[in-house]
Amino acid sequence: MGANGAEAESGMEAESWAGEMGRNWLASLDRFEGMIQPIGDAALDRAAFQPGERVIDIGCGGGGTSIAIAKAVAPEGHVTGLDISSDLILSCGARASLQGQSNVTFICADAATAQVNGAPFDRLFSRFGSMFFADPKTAFRNLRAMVRDGGRMDLAVWARPDENPWMQVMQQALKDDLPAPETPPDPHAPGPFAFADTAWLREVLEQAGFADIEIEPCQRAMPVGGAGASPEEAATFVLSAMHIGNQVAPEALPRAQARLAAAFAPHYVPGQGIMLAGKALLARAAAA
Ligand SMILES: C[S@@+](CC[C@H](N)C(=O)[O-])C[C@H]1O[C@@H](n2cnc3c(N)ncnc32)[C@H](O)[C@@H]1O
Repeated sequence: MGANGAEAESGMEAESWAGEMGRNWLASLDRFEGMIQPIGDAALDRAAFQPGERVIDIGCGGGGTSIAIAKAVAPEGHVTGLDISSDLILSCGARASLQGQSNVTFICADAATAQVNGAPFDRLFSRFGSMFFADPKTAFRNLRAMVRDGGRMDLAVWARPDENPWMQVMQQALKDDLPAPETPPDPHAPGPFAFADTAWLREVLEQAGFADIEIEPCQRAMPVGGAGASPEEAATFVLSAMHIGNQVAPEALPRAQARLAAAFAPHYVPGQGIMLAGKALLARAAAA
């Protein structure tokens, strides 16, 4: 959910996540995590982690999935959460300690190049943290080297924007306030939708040394702006925390806020929030 269009084309994804985008994610962590939890739960169910497994969580963000996996693999298993944002990684350690989860450690590193002590691991996992590599084939070759032969990888990545009503509603509401892309966007450019093309995702994984690739769609109602958010709260969240909202010029913010809130209102379910469908792809592969 970090970026689209212009920023993805500039190839600045990793740098942005290491800086401002990582801090933005942390500042609204509960809202972001609440929003993607339904798809994350499906990805974790499908991954079915077992006690004793040693796992890497790629692009672990605020560590929500790392801690969930750590509980599933306890007491003998272990999770290493890997993220390029030092702000997020610092917060992860504190969060795990608060929850008394001792079988999880967090490392600040670029997953495209990181060499992690303890490799090879049994499993790799990522909820929406693997689509931002400037050179995905090289990055996934590095990830392949972290996992033992036959070890399993599970990824959740976004399906196409036009298959994601939560995105469509925001784009439609902000259409007068977003800069027009200068060139047609590259569908494989680093960014949230980089792996929406399943043929491209397969090609990247196969060339990186993964086999037995199975990709299945996963559609869930997601609370935009976090569980229980009102239309106004969700609009404020989009404009302050999401890349799409950050592209709106300051003078257009009041109009954009009103239009977003109006667009979200029909989808508001009391006690649940702004419930809009989100579609991801859940990919499973084995290290060949
Ligand atoms: C959309 S967030 C998802 C966070 C987390 N997986 C979750 O589901 O809550 C994407 C995460 O990927 C991380 N990321 C992006 N590029 C990365 C890279 N090259 N290496 C490690 N982490 C990266 C970002 O810092 C960010 O925390």
